[in-house]
Amino acid sequence: METETKNVLDLQAIILAAGTSSRFKTGKTKLLEPICGRPMILYPTQVLRNLKIPTLMVVGFQREDIEETIKQSLGQNAVTFIHQKEQLGTGHAIQCTKDSWQAEHILVMNGDMPLVNEAVIEKLLKKHIQKDSTITFITAYHCDPNAMYGRVITGNDTIQIIEAKEFEGDLSEQCCVNAGVYLIRRDFLEKNLLELKKSPTTKEWYITDLIKIASDSNLKVETLSVPFDVIRGVNDFKELWAAEQIKKSEIVQHWMHNGVRFSIAHNVQIDWDVTIGAGTFIDSGVQLLSGTSIGMGCSIGSFSVLKNAIIADRCVVQSHTIVEKATLESDVIVGPFAYIHGNSFFEQQSKVGCFVEINRSSIGQKTKIKHLSYIGDAHFQEKVNVGAGTIVCNYDGIEKHRTLIKSEAFIGGNSTVIAPVVIGKGAMVAAGSTINKDVPDDALAIARQHQINKENYTKKFFQRKKESHFIGAHKITTETSEQQ
Ligand code: UD1
Ligand code: MG
Repeated sequence: METETKNVLDLQAIILAAGTSSRFKTGKTKLLEPICGRPMILYPTQVLRNLKIPTLMVVGFQREDIEETIKQSLGQNAVTFIHQKEQLGTGHAIQCTKDSWQAEHILVMNGDMPLVNEAVIEKLLKKHIQKDSTITFITAYHCDPNAMYGRVITGNDTIQIIEAKEFEGDLSEQCCVNAGVYLIRRDFLEKNLLELKKSPTTKEWYITDLIKIASDSNLKVETLSVPFDVIRGVNDFKELWAAEQIKKSEIVQHWMHNGVRFSIAHNVQIDWDVTIGAGTFIDSGVQLLSGTSIGMGCSIGSFSVLKNAIIADRCVVQSHTIVEKATLESDVIVGPFAYIHGNSFFEQQSKVGCFVEINRSSIGQKTKIKHLSYIGDAHFQEKVNVGAGTIVCNYDGIEKHRTLIKSEAFIGGNSTVIAPVVIGKGAMVAAGSTINKDVPDDALAIARQHQINKENYTKKFFQRKKESHFIGAHKITTETSEQQ
């Protein structure tokens, strides 16, 4: 299809992205609001890119931010930007691009339609060619009288679009809406764009008025009707929420088709670029955010949040665990209630248990840190066993220092390891130690007060206590009566 249309149609596209997004009430452009972790404007732009259609983008409001986002995500020259200095409507936005028209047919598309896809655009191109029309535009059926879409009104061989806010009559009877995607012959645009008149209501120029101009001149105007969900516009947070629900559900269904099991599919958040291997289980309330990839046969426990997390096969992330900017090799187990971040790296079969924080550290094969620990700026080699409550003190108030714990070392519970320090291979640290000097290989380090046991101490102690209490009580009674 792509080669067919490309051969027949000399085509370029324009995305309208200059609007002020006033209905969002955030003071920021809606086009950078994320939908499943991706700024909204990137969705329609990516569609045109996938179809290899050269694209202009009209920018104005917060244009630097939009340009930066597009360049960073799609490349410096993915799109040519054109500046609409004042936001005077969609018709005016098109006028701003006229010096850059080169192709015979111009595809104009709103920037606020994140659900649009390649198939729909290809159908539009095909119809435009087949019907040899001056304008072909996309419509959908949506019978909500409160929806602020332009209504497509036809009759006696005429067709026009009337904006909802300017429609006089019952909107609930006008269900055919304008999608905001138009394929227009360039010669028609050149002749007629200056014919547009300002709307008396909003004082804006509307691209939609071109339909009436073409129709009144008996030029061929065709429509392509598509499902409403594909062309939903996003003008406020309610519409963003609705569009995001659809996108979320598309993503979840995609992974279901690829062998991923969800316990409660509707309450997970999976960003657009996340990948998940077959045989993986995702529990309730999990958030898999941008930059995350999960291997095969993993289990991600409820309410865990993974962001920029690279998880290899057969890992288990138990519930309420955060993994942010970290890599887990295969068969690693982390959580519940673990916090793993700062480019930490876990080698195969290592284990981190509950209430453990691992920051900027690497954990060797089969090393276990299972309970209540903070590990910062450390390298643990393989098969190290770390007792409950161990803290690596990496920060002296000015600088961070590194700790090296060599293979098969054993760190007793409630130890404090003060960096910079090296604990040797096979060395043992006695529980409750405070280690601030290197421990040689195979040595036992004990760094705590000696314990003294006083034989029969408690018996004597309590006996004495009882006696003194009795004497004391007697004394007090006597003193009190004397005072009176
Ligand atoms: C527009 C259509 C409406 C259609 C709906 C579909 C017009 C007049 N109305 O309404 O018929 O049903 O889309 O979603 O076109 N923009 C600019 N410069 C401007 C104004 C807007 O570039 O001066 C951009 C916006 O950033 C946005 C797009 O044009 O990406 C559409 O503008 P928007 O305000 O969302 O139009 P709608 O009211 O949704
Ligand atoms: Mg809109």
